Amino acid sequence: MPEQTIAAAVRAAAARLAEVGVPDPLVDAELLVGHVRGLGRGEVQATILRGDSWDEEAGQRFLGLVERRAAREPLQHITGRAPFRHLELAVGPGVFVPRPETEMVAQFAIDALVADASEAPIGVDLCTGSGAIALALATEVPHSRVFAVELSDDAHAWAARNTASAGNLTLVHGDLADALPELDGSVSVVISNPPYVPDDALPRDPEVRLHDPAMALYGGPDGLDIVRVLSARALRLLRAGGLLVIEHGELQGRQIRDLLTADGWRAADTHPDLTHRDRATTAIRP
Ligand SMILES: C[S@@+](CC[C@H](N)C(=O)[O-])C[C@H]1O[C@@H](n2cnc3c(N)ncnc32)[C@H](O)[C@@H]1O
Repeated sequence: MPEQTIAAAVRAAAARLAEVGVPDPLVDAELLVGHVRGLGRGEVQATILRGDSWDEEAGQRFLGLVERRAAREPLQHITGRAPFRHLELAVGPGVFVPRPETEMVAQFAIDALVADASEAPIGVDLCTGSGAIALALATEVPHSRVFAVELSDDAHAWAARNTASAGNLTLVHGDLADALPELDGSVSVVISNPPYVPDDALPRDPEVRLHDPAMALYGGPDGLDIVRVLSARALRLLRAGGLLVIEHGELQGRQIRDLLTADGWRAADTHPDLTHRDRATTAIRP
């Protein structure tokens, strides 16, 4: 069987992915090689530098994955894995792929849990999807107790798989509107990355538009239907002085601050992400 260098395969794949508008074609090509070979990206780069080859079978398998990516299937659905902070989550059809910008949003909740003086501070992640935020809280603040709520059957199944081994994390299948009544008044931090895209604002990227579940994306005419419910529910869950953290779209900061302030929250404040776009709003329960 003829051999091909991995470097040549990566070059051809990156060109193919660039041709169809995949945003980071070389990175994706290298990560797909990593998936085929069971290697991290640094190790893939080392095989390229060494001029390593692979057999036709591996090359064909790689080409099949590249064509799926060229059809704009999310890289994380192809590999079945999504990185989040120090974690790697299992993901696939039916669950929202966790995003890098959410890693920084989670930090607000982690800092608040760490700063909390109680023995076992309680954190709640409403709209948990794959369980990414909840699992980050539970593992990075091991003395906390974390509760995660998810409505979708499919997403809940992914979250169950991802969170099964976290002893301080309880996953609840249900609507955030009436979830966890037994915790009312006792929670230190409520965090949520809710659906917030306005119904008529179709996302540009096909990976998002065609593969993230509609229930994870759309939040009604102005995108804030779930945020309104979240504000009401979090007011009851949190103890006085507890922190609410909401991820949102870059143009929604002012509306969300106004909405929270009208609901009675204190010190509503919007924070930018690393690209200087408004990304999260925090507020304190009076
Ligand atoms: C944008 S995704 C965020 C997922 C995850 N927290 C993350 O950051 O990757 C929003 C999630 O909220 C869930 N969801 C939508 N409406 C909900 C509701 N009323 N109650 C609970 N979960 C809901 C969706 O199914 C989806 O998994």
